[in-house]
This record gives sequence, structure tokens and C-alpha cells, in this order.
Amino acid sequence: MTNSPFSAAPQASRAAREGELRAASPSPAIEPASQPASGPLIRVEGLGKSYRTARGKLVLFDNLDFEVAPGELVAIVGQSGTGKSTLLHILGALDAPSAGRVYCASIDVATLGPREAAAFRNREIGYVWQFHYLLPEFTAAENVAMPLLARGMRPAEAMQRAAQWLKEVDLEDRGTHRPGELSGGEQQRVALARALVCEPRLLLADEPTGDLDDTTAGRVFELIERLHATHGLTSILVTHNLELAQRCTRTLRLANGRLTAFAGAA
Ligand SMILES: Nc1ncnc2c1ncn2[C@@H]1O[C@H](COP(=O)(O)OP(=O)(O)O)[C@@H](O)[C@H]1O
Ligand SMILES: [Mg+2]
Repeated sequence: MTNSPFSAAPQASRAAREGELRAASPSPAIEPASQPASGPLIRVEGLGKSYRTARGKLVLFDNLDFEVAPGELVAIVGQSGTGKSTLLHILGALDAPSAGRVYCASIDVATLGPREAAAFRNREIGYVWQFHYLLPEFTAAENVAMPLLARGMRPAEAMQRAAQWLKEVDLEDRGTHRPGELSGGEQQRVALARALVCEPRLLLADEPTGDLDDTTAGRVFELIERLHATHGLTSILVTHNLELAQRCTRTLRLANGRLTAFAGAA
């Protein structure tokens, strides 16, 4: 009982939870009327991020403009500390910009309040990080089902969908394993299933293969490519691996506060 995710699941009825999600959805007033359905999925205008620190103002980037079209698999490369994670956090409504606008799936994410941002993330964004952040006391299937439970889906249905997703990441026989009973590559596969179980349009991946050996990293990247294609995703992947970056449809480099097309090391 204490170890079931369902005891921690929202107790409100599904209808009430869906009503809450609808209420938390952005109002039409903050959806730009000029964003055509066929336009970019992400449009960033004049984006700036700076921090006030004891040693003065730290400007990570200033006046960034870029677009990502639906279906693109974009790699972002750049040295440590240049602001790649911060940029992904801003795109995924986990952090607020200091200036500029970020239209993501037609919504200006910079204008969302905390509840709206949470509903937006649950609906539109799948996020994976370098470390899997799976909950250790729950099974792989329960971890994958978690975002569905958070939306108020009935546990039986959520577990059924989780099982389907474990199959998609080739782990149908690992559903009852806890994260500690899985390899690093398997943990990232489960994290990918959890990121995509709510069928978001956008996958944001922050060094998802950074903690894996080369062979395992290659396999996880292949899985990302496959899921990206079969689920019609738009994906942005931060990586230090130039070989993998160059298999993406486009590579951008973040350096000195500028985001530029990266032609490769050759
Ligand atoms: N809350 C904060 N206050 C001040 N500086 C921060 C804060 N958060 C991040 N930074 C700094 O911003 C820089 C960029 O961080 P990050 O986006 O994680 O870079 P990357 O992912 O490219 O390695 C780092 O130098 C980090 O120390
Ligand atoms: Mg980072």
C-alpha cells in the first residue's frame, strides 16, 4: 500500500482533475493569433537570460532569435557553462527568461504562471536529463505511469499505457524491475518512455547519453531517432557527442551568448 504510486496519486475524480487541467490551460488571450498551424513549433525572439550574482551581472545569452520547425531533430552543442541547460529549461517552461518571447507549441511560455506552466509541460513537453531521475522505490512500469496518474487517468489504464510504452522502448520484460535493478541504458529507456507517455509534441533531451558508454549511448540515440520519427516529434537534444549531433537534422552551437549553425569539426 505504502509503496504503490496509486496511494500517492491525486484522489480527486478524473473529471475534476481534467477540469483543473483545463482551467490551468492558457487562455486564448495569450495564444498569438498570428501563429499558423504550419509555422514553426518553437519561435524564440530576443531571448535573454542573465543572473545577478555577488560578482555582478552574469549574462548567459542576449537577444537570441531562432525557430524550430515541426519534425526537426535539433542538436545543441557547446562548452560546459554556456547555458545549454538553461535554454532547454526556458523552452520547457521550467525557468523564466530575463527578456524576450518564447513561443512553444503556439504558447508564449514566458507568460505562464506556475500552474499553467505545469499543465503546459504535462501536455506538450517530454523531458529527459543526463540522469534518469526515476523514483527508486517504484517499478519501471509505475515510473512510466506516473505522468498519466498526475493527469488523473485511472490506474488500470495508466498501467496499460505504461506497458505499451515499455514495449516501445524494448523493455516489456522489465516492467516490474525497480530502477536499481536496471542498467544505465535501460534506465534511460524507461526515462524516455516516461517522458513520452503523455504523447507530447516536443521532446527536450539534456545530455541524455552523457552518462553512458559509447555503445550504449549509440543505442539510446538510435531509440531517440526512432521515437522521434514514429511519434512525429519535434526534438531538441543537448549533447557533447559531435558524432551523434551530426546525425540530427540541424546542429546549433551555443558559445559566448550566441547560437549559431554548427558546421562540424571537420
Ligand atoms: N541561479 C543561478 N544563479 C547564478 N548563476 C547561475 C544560476 N543557475 C545557473 N547559473 C550559471 O549559468 C551558467 C550556465 O549554466 P547551464 O545552463 O547549466 O550551462 P550548461 O548546461 O551549458 O553547462 C553556469 O555558469 C551556471 O553557474
Ligand atoms: Mg547542462
